[in-house]
Order: sequence, then C-alpha cells, then structure tokens
Amino acid sequence: MSTPFATIPDDGTPLRVVVVGAGGMGRAWLRTVESSPLVELAGIVDLDLATASEAAASLGRPDLPVGAGTASLASDVGAQAVINVTVPAAHHPVTTEALAAGLPVLGEKPVASTVAQGLSLAAAAELHGQLFMVSQSRRYNRQLFEAKRLSGSLGAVGIVSAEFFKAPHFGGFRDAMDHPLLLDMAIHQFDMARFLLDADPVSVFCEEYNPSWSWYRGDAGATAVFEMTGGERFVFNGSWCSPGQETSWNASWRISGEHGTVLWDGDNEPVSSAAIPLGSDAPDPGQEIAGSLRDFVSAVRTGSTPMGQVHQNIMSLAMVESAILSASTGARASVDALLEDSYQQALLAERDPAVLEVLKSWTSVRSALSGGSALAGEGIRR
Ligand SMILES: NC(=O)c1ccc[n+]([C@@H]2O[C@H](COP(=O)([O-])OP(=O)(O)OC[C@H]3O[C@@H](n4cnc5c(N)ncnc54)[C@H](O)[C@@H]3O)[C@@H](O)[C@H]2O)c1
Repeated sequence: MSTPFATIPDDGTPLRVVVVGAGGMGRAWLRTVESSPLVELAGIVDLDLATASEAAASLGRPDLPVGAGTASLASDVGAQAVINVTVPAAHHPVTTEALAAGLPVLGEKPVASTVAQGLSLAAAAELHGQLFMVSQSRRYNRQLFEAKRLSGSLGAVGIVSAEFFKAPHFGGFRDAMDHPLLLDMAIHQFDMARFLLDADPVSVFCEEYNPSWSWYRGDAGATAVFEMTGGERFVFNGSWCSPGQETSWNASWRISGEHGTVLWDGDNEPVSSAAIPLGSDAPDPGQEIAGSLRDFVSAVRTGSTPMGQVHQNIMSLAMVESAILSASTGARASVDALLEDSYQQALLAERDPAVLEVLKSWTSVRSALSGGSALAGEGIRR
C-alpha cells in the first residue's frame, strides 16, 4: 500500500507523543514509550482523568499533563503523534479526531469496532494525508519472521494451521462478550497467517461453539477454514477454555508445502523438515509493542510503509467478521461480499462530507485497500 502521508524528518529529538487510554494495555504502552529513546511522552489522555493521573504517577511523573480530549491536550503539549489505546468502541472517534488535527496515529488492534468503521478511518487517513497504523503486536516476533523465512524453501505452500488452546480466567468484559475467542484473540492469528502467506482472505467456513464446561457466556471455541488469495487454506482451531497441555499465546503453527513442513510452537525457534535456506537469519522486527512503536516512528520519519498501515490491516478484521458471519449463517462467507456490505454501511454512517467524498471515490474496496487502481476482475467493482 503506497498511500502517501506526511513525514516528520528526524531532527535529532524524540517524537513527542500523547497516549490515549490509560487502562491495562495503556499502562503497557506508557512503560514502552517511557523506555524508548525514539519517543518522548508529552501527556496522557483518558475520559477518566483520575485514571490518567494515576498512570502518570505510576511512571514517577506526577506532573505530566493529562486531559480528557485528544486534540486539545495534543495541541497544549505540542504533541507530534498519538498512540490510541482506548477500548475498541473509541478507536474510530479518537483516531478520527487525531487525524483531523493533523496528527499521525498508532492505534491498538482492532482497527475499529467494525470493518465499516475501519474503512472510514482509511478514508480519513487519505483525506488528511496522515499515517494511521494499527499495532498488531504479535507480528513483531523474530521467530515468526524466521518461520516465514524457512517456509521459503518449502516450494508451494498450500496449508497453514494454527492451534490455540488456553484456559485463562480473565473475569470482566471478555467473559460476557458474544464472540470472545474470535473477536478478542483470533484476530492475532488471522493477521499472522496473512503475514506468513503474504495473502489475503477470499472466503471462510467457520463453526463457533461453547464447550459444556466453559466459563464464558459467548462461544469460547471456534474452528475456521479460510481460502486465501493464493488458493492456500489457513485452518484456525482454538479454545479459550482448554486447561492442560496449553499452547503458547502465539498458537502452535504448521506450514505445509510441496517439499516439507515448518513447525513453530510460538515460543521457541521454528524448525523445518526441508534444507535450511541459505543466507542469514531473518531480521529482528523488535518485540511486540516495542517493535510496532519502532516501525511507526520509522514510517513517520521516512515515509516507509509500516506493517499495520490501516489499508493493509483492515483485512485482518474482515477475517474476524467473515468468520462470525459464517458461524451465524452456517454457510461459507465471501470476504468480498462482507467488504461490499461494510462499504455500504460506511457510506450510510459517514458524517464527515469530505471523508464521504473519499469513500465515494473508491472504485473497488480491495483495490482501495491495496493502494492500486481497480484492476479488471479484481475485488468489487462499482
Ligand atoms: N496487543 C495486545 O496483545 C492487546 C492486549 C490487550 C488489549 N489490547 C487492546 O488494547 C485496547 C485497550 O484495551 P485495555 O485492556 O487496556 O482496555 P481498558 O478497558 O483496560 O482501558 C481502556 C481505557 O480507555 C479509556 N477510554 C475509553 N474511551 C475513551 C475515549 N473516548 N477517550 C479517552 N479514553 C478513553 C477508558 O477510560 C480506559 O481507561 C483494546 O483495543 C484492546 O483490544 C491489545
């Protein structure tokens, strides 16, 4: 994807950022920002000012400016970028506000609550000429990169599977969600499969269910088979209520190709049955959110396209929504049909006339998301 965005050339000083959302994950981001020489924490935003102040105090910086409004605090403290770690329902309003204020945004996954809102954010990023990158943190893993490098010697790769079996007792919102596994967790593995295959989803057949002993209200188990753009199949099989012999948080992976197989348990070095390809090990992308922060700053500084750039990232949420749709209808779900529905919803819901004009200018959702002009026979045409 090559949508251009404004850059802030490196002048030798760290990029001044505000972090929005000081909850559980916000605190992890605050610690990462504080320990990075690439950025300087200029303020904390939270709807709950006491939460923001407590987070500032926990960093040993009780005098750090805090506020409840993103654009206003960013302006007050001269911030150059925003890190959005709010709840998914706030991703769209907070990121829209920051982009309109001329600020690049690094946001937590998912891109937004819905694919339709994600499309609105992609159009807003285009309109304002600002970078919006979604932090899909599990991509930033040296072993994952190495698994991909090793799979390069398998010849044609046709099957990728991820098994995810864990038994966390979170309490709180996840226990009450409708689709806790697919919505809150599987997006990571769906996104990792796209990375491993360099492919996007075409269709999915998914079953969701809740084992009899599950402590979740919604379905804690799911099996999904995706057809990908290269004709490969990606199979996700997971449960969030499976104690014993648990997999890693990254899942346990099998990449099956013409000449062999790569296995990765998600915690240790991947192994290959095929001859190891010549050349050095895969590059180190950094570890989780520290890696995505580095990718974001590098993109803002140089104009390079980071992993997770909004147009690229939306397909990962489209995999989640398509899987949920398939599970609810009992039929295979087409990703193009979901994109078309989401696009129509985005047109109806858009309140900003200028963003609406950008959305209307798209000739095809898939081509808009891939940054190119519509190609005959590719994606949805209008
Ligand atoms: N990458 C990962 O592995 C990972 C792990 C956990 C959470 N997350 C993601 O991080 C995000 C935050 O999750 P969390 O667990 O920290 O949630 P949380 O509920 O603990 O915290 C969210 C905070 O955002 C604040 N907030 C909500 N709306 C706001 C708004 N409009 N403006 C300013 N502040 C607002 C809330 O007051 C709260 O303090 C979610 O998108 C979640 O999916 C990612």
